[in-house]
Amino acid sequence: MQKVCIVGASGKLGQYMVGHALDRGYEVVGVCREESVGKLDAFKGRISIVPGATDDREVIRSAVAGCDGVLVVLVPWGVHHYASGTAQAVLDHAPPGARLVFSTGWYPSRDGKDVYPWSVKAKVLLGWLARLARVVDLGDQVEATRRVFASDTLWTVVRGSDLEEGKSQGLPVWSRHVGDPILESNLTRRVDFALFMVAALENDELIHEAPAIVGRLTPSALAFEAQTVEARS
Ligand SMILES: NC(=O)c1ccc[n+]([C@@H]2O[C@H](COP(=O)([O-])OP(=O)(O)OC[C@H]3O[C@@H](n4cnc5c(N)ncnc54)[C@H](OP(=O)(O)O)[C@@H]3O)[C@@H](O)[C@H]2O)c1
Repeated sequence: MQKVCIVGASGKLGQYMVGHALDRGYEVVGVCREESVGKLDAFKGRISIVPGATDDREVIRSAVAGCDGVLVVLVPWGVHHYASGTAQAVLDHAPPGARLVFSTGWYPSRDGKDVYPWSVKAKVLLGWLARLARVVDLGDQVEATRRVFASDTLWTVVRGSDLEEGKSQGLPVWSRHVGDPILESNLTRRVDFALFMVAALENDELIHEAPAIVGRLTPSALAFEAQTVEARS
């Protein structure tokens, strides 16, 4: 992996991903809205920036050219298919063979086997109310992931739990289905969500997977690890 594009680089998750990608020595191209370019000043001179809407196909086409990996923040803002437009532009224009890693929340399900806790269901309900207010469109984020799951590119969809700020606790742990006991704590440090995204670029076991992640030091992750160790001894 030498050159990566980060689509949605100026957000909180995006900026952490830029930092991790630079730490690994990758050449970084960031895409963000024109009015947000200043949020990337801390990286001035170390990354190149293609300003523009992330669902603008021309912006994406020029940003992903020559990249071995593309990290994509799928956001549900607005009601104009921003997330699905972003995903489609990346699927259509990323160079063949590039690793594509998309971020979303826990709620898009790949196979319908996720069992959501009430806290996630409540958020989804709030999301549908926000759709009525034309602020957020969770359905479009689901549509974006549906298109990714159906594509024959080398994709991974990383499904993040609730997020918090704080120092890194290391690479989060993951499971295929929300509802699996290891995920019960439903909390990940944002810096570690970004770490998982960047690490996924070079982890072939995650190709065509939709890992749901949780912080490795959360009670549910630690309890699962203790049970596994006990079962082995
Ligand atoms: N936040 C959570 O609790 C949570 C939980 C699970 C998963 N996730 C996932 O994590 C990812 C991003 O989270 P985050 O914490 O980094 O959020 P964030 O800092 O709020 O970033 C969100 C992104 O949305 C863009 N954005 C904001 N307003 C917009 C608008 N009106 N139109 C178009 N784009 C707009 C931002 O671009 P600008 O910089 O240009 O404003 C930025 O790239 C998403 O994939 C989300 O589904 C979040």
